[in-house]
Amino acid sequence: MREPKSANSGEELMNTPAKPEAPRVDQFFMAEEARFDRWRTLLHASRLWNRSLAQQESSKAQHQATVTNSLQELRQWEDFFAYPGQKLVALVEERISSGDATGAARLIQSISNALLTHSYRSNVGDWESEDEAPINLGERVPGAGEDAAHRPYFEVLVVSPARKTAWQELAQDLRKLRRPQDKFVYEPVFVSSFEDAVLATILNGSIEAVIVYEGISLHSSHTSTVLREFLTSHLAASGISASANDYSMALAQGLKQLRPELDIYFLSDRKVETVAGDVNASFLRRVFYQVEEPLELHLSILDGIADRFDTPYFDNLQKYAQRPIGTFHALPIARGKSIFKSNWISDMGKFYGINLFLAESSATTGGLDSLLEPTGNIKVAQDKAARAFGADHVFFVTNGTSTSNKMVEQALLGPGDIVLVDRNCHKSHHYGAVLSGAYPLYVEAYPLTQYSMYGAVPLSTIKKALLDLKAEGRLDRARLLVLTNCTFDGHIYNPERVMEECLAIKPDLIFLWDEAWFGFARWSPFYRRRTAMGAAANLEKKFKDPAYRTAYAEQEKKLGADLKADEKTLLGTRLLANPDKVRLRVYQTNSTHKSMSCLRQGSMVLVKDQDYHTVEEQFHEAVFTHASTSPNLQIIATLDVARRQMELEGYELVNRAIQLALDVRREVNSHPLISKYFRVLGADEMIPAEFRNSGFVDYLTPGVNWATAVKALREDEFALDVTRLTLVCGSAGFDGTQFKNLLAAEFDIQLNKTSRNSVLLQTNINNTRSDIAQLIKVLVQISQGIEKKLVDGGKPARTAFEARVKSLMTDVPDLPNFSRFFDRFRENPSSKTSEGDMRAAFFAAYRQEQCEHLKLSSPEIDKRLKEGPELVSANFVIPYPPGFPIMVPGQVINAQTIEFMRKLDVKEIHGFSAALGLKLLNPAFLQSVNAPAKESATNAAKQGKSKTARAASGD
Ligand SMILES: Cc1ncc(COP(=O)(O)O)c(C=O)c1O
Repeated sequence: MREPKSANSGEELMNTPAKPEAPRVDQFFMAEEARFDRWRTLLHASRLWNRSLAQQESSKAQHQATVTNSLQELRQWEDFFAYPGQKLVALVEERISSGDATGAARLIQSISNALLTHSYRSNVGDWESEDEAPINLGERVPGAGEDAAHRPYFEVLVVSPARKTAWQELAQDLRKLRRPQDKFVYEPVFVSSFEDAVLATILNGSIEAVIVYEGISLHSSHTSTVLREFLTSHLAASGISASANDYSMALAQGLKQLRPELDIYFLSDRKVETVAGDVNASFLRRVFYQVEEPLELHLSILDGIADRFDTPYFDNLQKYAQRPIGTFHALPIARGKSIFKSNWISDMGKFYGINLFLAESSATTGGLDSLLEPTGNIKVAQDKAARAFGADHVFFVTNGTSTSNKMVEQALLGPGDIVLVDRNCHKSHHYGAVLSGAYPLYVEAYPLTQYSMYGAVPLSTIKKALLDLKAEGRLDRARLLVLTNCTFDGHIYNPERVMEECLAIKPDLIFLWDEAWFGFARWSPFYRRRTAMGAAANLEKKFKDPAYRTAYAEQEKKLGADLKADEKTLLGTRLLANPDKVRLRVYQTNSTHKSMSCLRQGSMVLVKDQDYHTVEEQFHEAVFTHASTSPNLQIIATLDVARRQMELEGYELVNRAIQLALDVRREVNSHPLISKYFRVLGADEMIPAEFRNSGFVDYLTPGVNWATAVKALREDEFALDVTRLTLVCGSAGFDGTQFKNLLAAEFDIQLNKTSRNSVLLQTNINNTRSDIAQLIKVLVQISQGIEKKLVDGGKPARTAFEARVKSLMTDVPDLPNFSRFFDRFRENPSSKTSEGDMRAAFFAAYRQEQCEHLKLSSPEIDKRLKEGPELVSANFVIPYPPGFPIMVPGQVINAQTIEFMRKLDVKEIHGFSAALGLKLLNPAFLQSVNAPAKESATNAAKQGKSKTARAASGD
């Protein structure tokens, strides 16, 4: 889709003269793509040179010079990859300098192909020039024999102070250690400095293990501005520094931070025992005394990969499927006999294949395990997932994050506890409150009215809610804060800051981060700090840091231990938590199926809770409550496999997904035709400026480079997930649902979320450049269709189009805030905070005689809004879009909500039947047993405000 750029493309390498432009954000993630583009540029130039052979000498010379320059640009990148390697690159160089245009073009073509198709990972021939004699298979890439089983290929970074000449020898020594029984095959990549090692780890996603020698140098031998920019931003993003004298250990620590999944081996020539015994070096997989035992090192490297590769549950399931098992349990589909032998349903067998049925069982023994009480391979698989995601414990869940959320809430909340929760969160949380009997205290996200969607909840709103509870003596009841990170539309919180400041007010508050959409983020060094687990790890370190303790002591002097300062000061201060008091209790739920290679409904609960032992029993109860006793084995297996994939190639895949999203953003917003009708909203439109303190505007704003983007990701209250693209289609005359249906029906493009005037596109680890090209092509086609209609239809068509666009883009209803729970469902109706007993309201609606229905358009509604009695919702009403409950059980319905409902033009509204009308709790019931209401009447009277007056004012 995108033509390779040459000069000034932001990828200038060493020896390029003039001061280059700062690289734009989109040129960062595409390390792999950028490299391919460079090879394609070189290929293109070499072909032109080859074709010019019949032309004049001067023209040939010009072409040859272009090829030489292209190779020069490429050369430095190649230092960080094992393939094609120095030998082949030198051969290309030799052919160019000797004027062998045909030979150069042929070799460049074959290298480019091998890189693009990844064939070099298994094809020995790719590693040699076409005119070389066949090489010894065993010596080069042992997984490559024609009859050899597939052996996954990876690269090992060796950071060694040895002379470059010694590198070849060491590489040969490592290759000689290969054995036919090795399950994997690797090639080494050598660098000698801290900086080059960081660059290699960033640029080369195939690196899976790193060997760090002592005595390495600091500075890169590469002086390219872009490489330096990459380096600086990554160091900043992950907080790595080489300030210590010991660059080797600083590097080992830094790389673990950058890509925690990597195995790091440390080769020391000093006291290895001291290094091995250092508690701060426990992340090292092994420590060796130089290369005393090369075979041990080789075996350790393979063992490290095997540890990530092993999928205990999936492996056992495969073994189970191969055994001749007679089944006398209740699962006829198991082994597939009822299917394959059937006269009527054998096509299903053909479609899915035999393995699906062989791998079905209802047994929890014989190599399988029980999801409800795992002690065998599910337990090991969960432990591996915990390691991968940076959690202490993981629960696999086979009914989606809808269930994971309810499990966590049931385990952590009891009746009467207060749960602070974004009203715009997924409905599972609202049901979690109903199930547990906890009182939801809704905190409002900022609205994006024009796009009929919500953003995220400002930290000041959350702090205020906690301070209000404190002021009213109910802070002890606040047990859990639930936030969606990132939101459906891509708003990412700053979880470290949110937790730190909340813990300053309530040191034992528990956090549930619903990262249904964000599980993949762990594998991006940029996003990791904004994930629940990444933030929890940072906080854990922070709270142990003496400097933090000192800073806290300073704060205590100013604000008092009990934060006695006035509310304005507390809201305006970046609060530190008392490190001696805090309990770090963090939970995350993620829909593994939404962002990783997992079957639908596969979800995980991640736990990093220092007081987990106090709730462990409850957790098991929650599992028993919610998990099916017949969980789907294939879902469990894919949870296990998704973990394997992310630990081995997540870094590369996530970078690609981010890159593709940046490509879409750029192509749509800069395309002369598409951008007349469509646009992808930037960070500036999704996040108000007050939450972007760094001044960051958008990823593609001219002048934005990685330094600014990283600063924003570190500092800003909210960031935008690049992979979630809100495409405005109202300006093309389509409402979201219409446009979604058009894409599905006519262009086979699927998406799931819409708003009044936008659709949400997402890229994930499954997308390719071809997908993006297809999307762009379709948008061009649709735009051309609009143009044609407007031209053919003349003025009337244009007038109608403009009116439609105006209606979609400007006549948008205000989003109603949560009003309050009806007094009867509140303990103290005059309290500042609005939490209430939603469960009581929910179950009250089970009795028909306690309910009534009122048609939405009925004048009775308007009368009641003015004069009372108050309208009280009997159930959840959730319109799609926007997909959040605009009414919850027990909520007083105010004029704004009715207005919003009346303006809604969506068809799918859960909990509402247009024919019956709004389901309400009837006044007779609400006034019947009304102890709290009486209290409220008294309070209201005390405040000099009648109920009717309050109803009329809609508060
Ligand atoms: C924020 C959020 N949480 C939870 C869920 C439920 O996840 P699942 O579909 O895995 O049940 C969703 C579903 O869309 C969601 O958007």
